[in-house]
Amino acid sequence: MFPDTVLRTERFVLRPFTPDDAHDTWASCVDPLTQRWLPLPRPYTPEEAMAWCTTGSHALRASGDGIHFAVAERDGGRLVGTVGLKRTDWRVRTSEVGYWVSPWARGRGIAAEATRALATWLLAEQGFRRLELRAATGNTASQRVAAKAGLRREGVLRDAGFVHTGQVDLVVFSLVPGDLAVAPAENRSVVADGSPTEAELDGIEERAASASPGPWTPLLETRAGIGGASFLQVGAAGGAGDEELHLTRVTAGREVAGPDEQLDADLDFIASARQDVPRLLAEVRRLRAALAAENS
Ligand SMILES: CC(C)(COP(=O)(O)OP(=O)(O)OC[C@H]1O[C@@H](n2cnc3c(N)ncnc32)[C@H](O)[C@@H]1OP(=O)(O)O)[C@@H](O)C(=O)NCCC(=O)NCCS
Repeated sequence: MFPDTVLRTERFVLRPFTPDDAHDTWASCVDPLTQRWLPLPRPYTPEEAMAWCTTGSHALRASGDGIHFAVAERDGGRLVGTVGLKRTDWRVRTSEVGYWVSPWARGRGIAAEATRALATWLLAEQGFRRLELRAATGNTASQRVAAKAGLRREGVLRDAGFVHTGQVDLVVFSLVPGDLAVAPAENRSVVADGSPTEAELDGIEERAASASPGPWTPLLETRAGIGGASFLQVGAAGGAGDEELHLTRVTAGREVAGPDEQLDADLDFIASARQDVPRLLAEVRRLRAALAAENS
């Protein structure tokens, strides 16, 4: 098991939970954003918060599964979040980080600062070989936290996670001891030449992941001579999965009557984007990783 430990960062202290943290823990865990991304009990009761602070978090450390820190302002200040390790594999010496930040403390870079401190302790002092973070593809803030803490993005695990709304794809990030020599990539996402930042790529990825899964099929009146309006088939044709997107082209305030070759070209482009965007994203990520590996 991990030793009972207190870590200090520039602004915060990472320490074991105490009964005094129970109310703030409860208020943080009923928060909608916390509930959106973490499959915590719903409703989350004050009793559950008290049990976590007095026994649950400590029992998990004793079990060897990980270690759970309350993150608080230094000098006895208020709870601002948590960071912890779970699913620790002592043979392979890998562990997975998790965090939430209290709603009243968000926007100050707390999760990245706490994660970096925990990662340094784990890899430099506890002899671990790998720290992992798994975040839902839609959880852009968490992915930004990982990048700011210096973790590298490795790829997407399909349907590997669970939140209250259902199954989600997870992005995997990792940090290994060799990465600690590199300063946390505060500016890794800032690209001077106008190419998309990591945050922008994350946004594109999130939008692609949120759109109907497809395949999307353009049914184009002009080209196919089907008759009726051109439209996009975005679900299986016929039956319960049948879903269509109908678009109209309006120019100078007037709807263009079909057949409309320009509308067909636009629909064709939108339908292809369903497949093209994820492929192009994967290629950008692959090339960036290759470039980073070459420069490191
Ligand atoms: C993820 C979380 C811990 C981050 O909290 P935090 O440390 O206060 O993070 P910040 O608000 O300082 O934001 C970190 C980065 O994400 C960005 N960010 C925050 N919210 C965002 C959003 N909704 N969309 C895109 N980017 C966002 C910030 O701009 C910042 O990036 P920058 O420094 O490049 O500007 C917090 O949002 C949270 O508690 N979420 C719910 C629980 C959760 O998701 N846990 C992680 C599960 S994997």
